[in-house]
Amino acid sequence: MRSRARCWVSFKRGVRRDRFRVPRSAFGVRIAISTGGGDAPGLNAVIRAIVLSAYNRGWHTYGIRRGYNGLLGDDGIMALTPDKVRGITHLGGTILGTTNRGNPFRWVVRGSDGRESEVDRSDDLIAAFAASGFDALISIGGDGSLKIAHDLWKKGMPVVGVPKTIDNDVMGTLATFGFDTAVSTATEAIDKLHSTAESHERVMVVELMGRDAGWIALHSGIAASADVILLPEIPFDIEKVCNKIRAREAAGRHFSIVVVAEGAKAQGGETLIIERRAAGTVDRLGGIGSMVAKAIGDRTGKETRSLVLGHIQRGGSPTTFDRLLALRFGSAALRAVADGAFGMMVGYAPPEIVRIPIIDVVGKMKAVNLDSDTVLTARDLGISLGD
Ligand code: F6P
Repeated sequence: MRSRARCWVSFKRGVRRDRFRVPRSAFGVRIAISTGGGDAPGLNAVIRAIVLSAYNRGWHTYGIRRGYNGLLGDDGIMALTPDKVRGITHLGGTILGTTNRGNPFRWVVRGSDGRESEVDRSDDLIAAFAASGFDALISIGGDGSLKIAHDLWKKGMPVVGVPKTIDNDVMGTLATFGFDTAVSTATEAIDKLHSTAESHERVMVVELMGRDAGWIALHSGIAASADVILLPEIPFDIEKVCNKIRAREAAGRHFSIVVVAEGAKAQGGETLIIERRAAGTVDRLGGIGSMVAKAIGDRTGKETRSLVLGHIQRGGSPTTFDRLLALRFGSAALRAVADGAFGMMVGYAPPEIVRIPIIDVVGKMKAVNLDSDTVLTARDLGISLGD
């Protein structure tokens, strides 16, 4: 691997050295790590596994701060020694920081008129990466970050990807770390809604994250005994939702719990967006929970309340499952670097951690399979999916 990676660096020998920020060691492979997009519980565990796996091979690791800002902006790079990653496996967030406005191919610049626009700074990034003497990049991120990783690899950068997102929507891996923690958080929150819903005989509507995939809503909704679960994958009929609530009323169950994925939409309707895409970012979804609550209240006459669980789903200590998956991903990513398996992503295909070409997964969202036993379980339990 070393000769291959060094070849790449020497190929870039002509690049400017004035961006050089990290003292270059005479020997040893130098691995850069970047965390991009929304944070997810388990990121720190991945970083720790990479750093320790590298250290045990006599290699060096460096963290690029806040996505790629450490190479393209002023955020800098941090040397990641075993000391720096001690005691972080159980911590949420990322010690490197992250941003969802850090795409080097769509870098946001502000003009003299204050207006923001996007420019392609991928060549600058590649030059800064080479000037820093890095041999490989391990890019930890969701679909957007993996697309960037793939595009950088196409331009010659030796990149290995690690999939991350609470949404669990990355193809090529049965699970992403962060998902299990988000589901646990959501399940606990829905559990807590039951007593207040029952005491007040109300309908409680809770909107959960997940973008265009309903994994968090489906898994936590079933686990927490929701009465209705609305997913982006199944456009709903509000009358069917109300019928479920009316049927519960008739059966003497005077409260109901409705779980709505933020990307859910009515039949013939559109996904709701609370904020249109600004330069360098994506649309922010939201608002469907309160819309569903209002419609239920109007149609059934039931007192209805709604809440948005929001970013609490991204926080907290990763569950045991997420910690282990994250540690396995980090170690497997380092082994992929050692094998020179660039352009590949690690993925979970139980019981193995596998390697998949990043090109095979980017731009292909992993949606909930409507024939899966999880969906069938929801239906068998009498949960309405609004269809
Ligand atoms: O992709 C993870 C996620 O938490 C989505 O579920 C959610 O739609 C989005 O990020 C929120 O992003 P932001 O942190 O920009 O509000």
